[in-house]
Amino acid sequence: MSTDGDGRRPGANGPGGGERRTRRDDRAERLVVAAFTVSIVGALILAVVYIAGGQAQLEGVALALALGGIGLGIAVWARYFMAADEVVEERHALASTEEEVTAFTAAFEAGEQTLARRGLLAKLGLGALGALGLAALFPIRSLGPRPGQGLKNTAYGDGGRPLRLVDADGVPIRPADLSRSSLTTAWPEGHEHDADASTLLLQVDRERFRPLPGREDWVVGDIVAYSKLCTHTGCPVGLYQTELDLLLCPCHQSTFDVLNGAEPVFGPAARPLPQLPLDVDEEGFLVATGDFSAPVAGGFWDRGRT
Ligand code: FES
Repeated sequence: MSTDGDGRRPGANGPGGGERRTRRDDRAERLVVAAFTVSIVGALILAVVYIAGGQAQLEGVALALALGGIGLGIAVWARYFMAADEVVEERHALASTEEEVTAFTAAFEAGEQTLARRGLLAKLGLGALGALGLAALFPIRSLGPRPGQGLKNTAYGDGGRPLRLVDADGVPIRPADLSRSSLTTAWPEGHEHDADASTLLLQVDRERFRPLPGREDWVVGDIVAYSKLCTHTGCPVGLYQTELDLLLCPCHQSTFDVLNGAEPVFGPAARPLPQLPLDVDEEGFLVATGDFSAPVAGGFWDRGRT
C-alpha cells in the first residue's frame, strides 16, 4: 500500500476518511508514553538522591530527565496528534463558512481518532507533572531545622534546676575567685561551648548598685552576671571600665551601665544586656537559678525591648 511522505495512507485525516490510524501514529504514541515515563522516573530519582544526601551531578541528570521527558512528550503530542495546519482568515470574514466548519471538524476528529490512548497519555502527563512538583518540594528541607525556642532560651533555662557557673575548662567558680578589677567569663556547667550562654561575672560597687525591681536577690554579694553578647549585633562585650562601672562593646562602641541593669547609655544597642539570676549552692559555688532575663544577643523579628 502506498503512503505519503509521513507514512500516512493517502486520504488519511481527510473529511469523511473514517479510522486513519497509521504506523506513524503508533510510533508517536509510544514515544509520548516513553517520554512521560522517563520524566516520572527522573523525578523519582531526583527525590531519592536528594533524600540520600544529595549528589549535584546525579541530581542534575535526574532533573534534566524529568523536565526533558515532559517537554518531549508534549512536543510529540502536539506534533502528531494536534492539527498543525496554518489557518489564514481574511479580515472581512467574521464567520467561518460552512465548508471551513466542516473541514475543521473533520481535521479535529481525525486527530482524535488516531489518538487511541488519550486517557493513558493524559494521566501519564499529569503524573509526570505531579512527580516533578513533589520532587521540587524536597529542597525545602535544605532550609535547615526550625529554630524552635533556641533563639530565646539558653542552656541556663534547660531542666528548670540551678546550674553551676564554670570557666572555659569546666571548673566551677566561687565568689572568692572573682576580683573587682577584672571580668570573668563563665558558662553553665556542661555547656562550656554554648556561645549564646557566655556570661560576664563582675564585681560592682555595692554602694552604688541599683538592682532593678524584682531582681534584688539576683546578685551574690557584689557579684552580678550579664550576658556577654552585645544586644546590638551580638559581638562579645569584653571591656570593663571599673572606675565608671561601664561595659563597652568593641564592635560599635555600645556602652552599658552595669550599676543600672546594664542599660545602654551610648552607641547603637537599644536593649540592656540580659541579666542572669545568681545564687550559691551548698558547696559555695556560683549557680544560676534561671535563664537570662531576656533573649540574648542582637534583635530578630519578634524580639521586643525587654
Ligand atoms: S555589636 Fe556591640 S555595638 Fe554593635
